[in-house]
Amino acid sequence: MDKLIINGGTRLKGEVKISGAKNAALPLIAACLLNEGCTTLSNIPTLRDITTIIKLMEKLGVEVKGKDILKIDASQVHSYRAPYELVKTMRASILVLGPLLARVGRAKVSLPGGCAIGPRPVNLHLKALESMGATIKLERGYIVAECKKLRGARVYFDLSTVTGTENIMMAATLAQGTTVVENAAKEPEVEELASALKKMGAHIEGAGTDVITIEGVAHLHPIEHTIMPDRIEAGTYMVAAGITQGDITLLNCNVTYLNALIEKLEEIGLKITEKNGNLRVVGTTPFKSTDVKTLPYPGFPTDMQAQIMTLLCLVEGASIVTETIFKDRFMHVGELRRLGADIRVEGNTAIVNGVKKLYGAPVMATDLRASASLVLAGLVAEGVTEVSRVYHLDRGYERMEVKLSQLGADIQRVKE
Ligand code: EPU
Repeated sequence: MDKLIINGGTRLKGEVKISGAKNAALPLIAACLLNEGCTTLSNIPTLRDITTIIKLMEKLGVEVKGKDILKIDASQVHSYRAPYELVKTMRASILVLGPLLARVGRAKVSLPGGCAIGPRPVNLHLKALESMGATIKLERGYIVAECKKLRGARVYFDLSTVTGTENIMMAATLAQGTTVVENAAKEPEVEELASALKKMGAHIEGAGTDVITIEGVAHLHPIEHTIMPDRIEAGTYMVAAGITQGDITLLNCNVTYLNALIEKLEEIGLKITEKNGNLRVVGTTPFKSTDVKTLPYPGFPTDMQAQIMTLLCLVEGASIVTETIFKDRFMHVGELRRLGADIRVEGNTAIVNGVKKLYGAPVMATDLRASASLVLAGLVAEGVTEVSRVYHLDRGYERMEVKLSQLGADIQRVKE
């Protein structure tokens, strides 16, 4: 197992290229199951979650070649089983459920278990597929779903669910008739998936709004598609600029999808300017405390909650961070406290009282974004911070220690 050793205190300066978005690439790779040809996806980030979904596709009989450009040939699908060994390492494996049902009429997908950020059930995915005609049973830890031909249905999601919306949208592309998804997730990654599916020949309207209409078609065809930049990776480097009082220019980032975050960071006092699609972020103190509440897009993303909390730890005054998406996404708080942060948690609210300094210590990551928040803290903490269990970070950040070193950080990866 690897760990990161960070010697804090350097101002980060320079340019960083934002990688392709993990949460756009995962559903797009799964969507390749819907057509019987070879799809080419470029700007694929090198991440552990991507390796996992490729392994899963290969288990299903799909041929996958390449690395940052993937050629995914789904002419043959000879299995419909997503095994526990893969699903337990990545919940997003559930994204093959809808496409498998649509393509081969059956799916056996291990039921994702508990998660470091909350219970995260998939009941809404299952209820929606049932309303489209699937019979679903839970057998020995597996979701066993069958349906010769899915039919269009009206699907209302009680909660806005990102992968739920994506699963149903994919399943509905090959269903008989029209599916209307109400209270659909509006995340940019949902819109990206819809636009790729439309290129494949799907009839989809309304993606990016809370009502999506999908009219089923008989076949989809292979495409070439470039994955959008990762808005959460971009946000993480923006916070890195702020927390180190640095000056970082983000290359290849889509500014439109960062509005809620930009507003908050500007409120805190970061100077953010856009030029030719690049974003320059300068962290010049004094900073002001603020309140943050996570919400479905276009609200403040839950995937940036841990990182902005680290920044607020060093901002004078009290800031209140409210998490409304996941039940248990404050696992980073205990570790930030080990570095000297003053944070009190009451239910889904964290009260952060700014301190003058953080002090390096060994800390342990518990999930992907929590790991990122600890690395950010290490960049500014006095002395050495050791972040262990870096495999969480590797799930969603491409070569983070390399990108940070290029910006001037004193950070190394070592074997534990
Ligand atoms: N929910 C249910 N039942 C369901 C589905 C969701 O109760 O059937 C609840 C969840 O427990 C949660 C809320 O609804 O409280 C929203 O969850 P959602 O389904 O939107 O999350 P997800 O689709 O599992 C995706 C991202 C997450 C991101 C969330 C929220 C992917 C692969 N994952 O998860 O990304 O936090 O949306 O934006 O797209 C990450 O990248 O670190 C990450 C966790």
